[in-house]
Amino acid sequence: MDGRLKVTGQAAYAADHRVDGVVYAAVVDSTVGRGRITGIDARAAEAQPGVLAVISHLNAPRLAYRPNSGSNNPDGARLRVFQDDQVLFHGQPVAVVVATTHEGARHAASLVEVRYDAARPSTDLNSAPAGEADSYARGDADSALASAEVRLEPKYRLSRNHHNPMEPHATIARWDGDRLTVWDKTQWVVGGTQQELAAVFGIPQESVRVISPFVGGGFGSGLRAWPHVIIAALAARETGRPVKLVLTREQMYFGTGFRPAYEYQMRVGSDRRGRLIAMTHDIRGETATYETFTEEVMAPGQMLYSMPNVRQTYATVPLDVNAPTWMRGPGAATGVFAIESAVDELAHEVGVDPIELRLLNEPERDESTGLPFSTRRLRECYEVGAREFGWNRRDPRPAATRDGDWLIGTGVSAAMYHTGSMSARAYVRLNADGTALVQSATSDMGPGTYTSMPQVAADALGLAMSAVRFELGDSLMPPTPPHGGSMTMASVGSAVQDGGDKVRQQAIALAVNDPRSPLHGVRPEDVIVRRGRLHLSNDPTRGETYEQLLTRNNRPHLEIIGSYAPPEQQRYTMNAYGAVFAEVAVDQRLGLVRVRRMLGVYDAGRIINPKLAESQAIGGMVGGIGTALLEHTVTDHRDGRIVNANLADYLVPVNADVPDLRAIYLDGEDQHADPIGVKGLGEIVIVGVAPAIANAVFHATGRRIRELPITAEALL
Ligand code: MOS
Repeated sequence: MDGRLKVTGQAAYAADHRVDGVVYAAVVDSTVGRGRITGIDARAAEAQPGVLAVISHLNAPRLAYRPNSGSNNPDGARLRVFQDDQVLFHGQPVAVVVATTHEGARHAASLVEVRYDAARPSTDLNSAPAGEADSYARGDADSALASAEVRLEPKYRLSRNHHNPMEPHATIARWDGDRLTVWDKTQWVVGGTQQELAAVFGIPQESVRVISPFVGGGFGSGLRAWPHVIIAALAARETGRPVKLVLTREQMYFGTGFRPAYEYQMRVGSDRRGRLIAMTHDIRGETATYETFTEEVMAPGQMLYSMPNVRQTYATVPLDVNAPTWMRGPGAATGVFAIESAVDELAHEVGVDPIELRLLNEPERDESTGLPFSTRRLRECYEVGAREFGWNRRDPRPAATRDGDWLIGTGVSAAMYHTGSMSARAYVRLNADGTALVQSATSDMGPGTYTSMPQVAADALGLAMSAVRFELGDSLMPPTPPHGGSMTMASVGSAVQDGGDKVRQQAIALAVNDPRSPLHGVRPEDVIVRRGRLHLSNDPTRGETYEQLLTRNNRPHLEIIGSYAPPEQQRYTMNAYGAVFAEVAVDQRLGLVRVRRMLGVYDAGRIINPKLAESQAIGGMVGGIGTALLEHTVTDHRDGRIVNANLADYLVPVNADVPDLRAIYLDGEDQHADPIGVKGLGEIVIVGVAPAIANAVFHATGRRIRELPITAEALL
């Protein structure tokens, strides 16, 4: 529905909105990695034409910074912008310049002189001590490992990754008296931006309006409000002008979150046939000193395979960095890389086909809770995938298949991502002209919410899709959970369906009680609606249109707020699953890895829109190729500076890196998951991609690379 707007430049992203009298902000970032600001000389900046203000901790008002429990903020203190002289990481905002032009603000920002009392930051996960730790255990993994017939102890490392959405983060803020309006790039209009601004400025939530009709990619980077959102609102309040603040690409690397780097020490024990007996996972992941970010890295280790003994520790390592956050397939992508690499190592060790070994260890239920799986069709994913990919054609011996200078290998990985949903609402209005309006405050970062929600609404209302208008991205609309975690269709979709069902039922009730309706007196359950016309299910000739019904009854519309709430107690463990296959070619003399083809087979429940689902899977695979082979945020540990904070040096896959990608979704639905039967598909599609590629590299070369990204240096 929004494709034409996007490709013709008519879709208004955050910074595109035209706000009268807007002025421009440019952030000054710390050039030291830790320490204290000892002085700021803003005279040269202030003397520039058009400069309205230079705001720093020296002149900024104290802000309320109330707790915001309804947000995605991790435990901790939040970064309080311009509230004191402390520098917690390289790139931290230390001042903002507001000027009448964007260029003027940028130039003046470069003239602000900040003096520091600098200390050496701690930014190296490998050497820094761990902070808080979480743990999990069942059975006695350490004893079981001691007596296991086969034992492996691989250690894996994953580099820090950045989201790098095409649209930079941007905020326009305008105050009208005590009321604040922001146009923001956000994946959570209500909890992420509206509530956070209210909490920081100490004003009622209703005093903040957030508008975000289009988001140009997010991958998780928009799940909370970052400091620049606060800075834009603060600058607007201080100058009395609407302020636009767009982060530079470089600022995106320390002004928003990232996928933290991890070390993952595995120990795996099995019998000689590859039946798993025990695993231990000792995990270390990056966090900031001021916030403790954690994610679901442990869950896959508890339920991906059947085994009596599991022990896990997950320690966060506080570093002098900005706070990490979720990035596509959060937690699962990391945990599954370690597990699926280790399982592949085990298959090779015991001489069992990697798929057979996985099938041998398929659990019947979630052994961490004892709960049944709502649906788990991973076996089918392997079966379909092996057939479609041609898995059985491979020579199982590593480094045995050649194509000229290239060694050819194939690899497979399981994927899982938990199915989540949260309370959501949607306004549904059926107009007397037979059209409908549906609104919900979700945002949309690109998966096609503008298309999929009208599909759901049209189905529920019995309308043609073209008769439904769907609006999103405004905090005045009914609230929704974050647009993330693969929850939007399960949550918002269920609310839209609920609203559509109820309005349809209202219309049917109106008809059967209306003596002038051809449906007068019939049982409501015998009436169906198709393309805007109500009729008897067994006699399509007896009926009338919504338009006739509402017009005759002088009803301009029927309306309701549909809602969805997840059950209080889960009776099932719910996950989406996938089997990911990769074929790579490796030139060992050059250290080159080329992905030749990939196939993902997914058990994601009901698929609302196959075209959009395909697009998600292709995008997830491209992202996973990045994680596997290219993406790596590099820090200079002497001062905490990110040295490749740009899209020339932070490598992402381009078209030449992206071969034949194919996705298959298993038919079906998950009736336990949510009213729509979906299991979520935006996150699962990146999980399993990196291990499938790493396993294929091993199969091609016989060399096991345990660190991502797999670089030429590692292969030479
Ligand atoms: Mo997804 S990491 O919740 O945008």
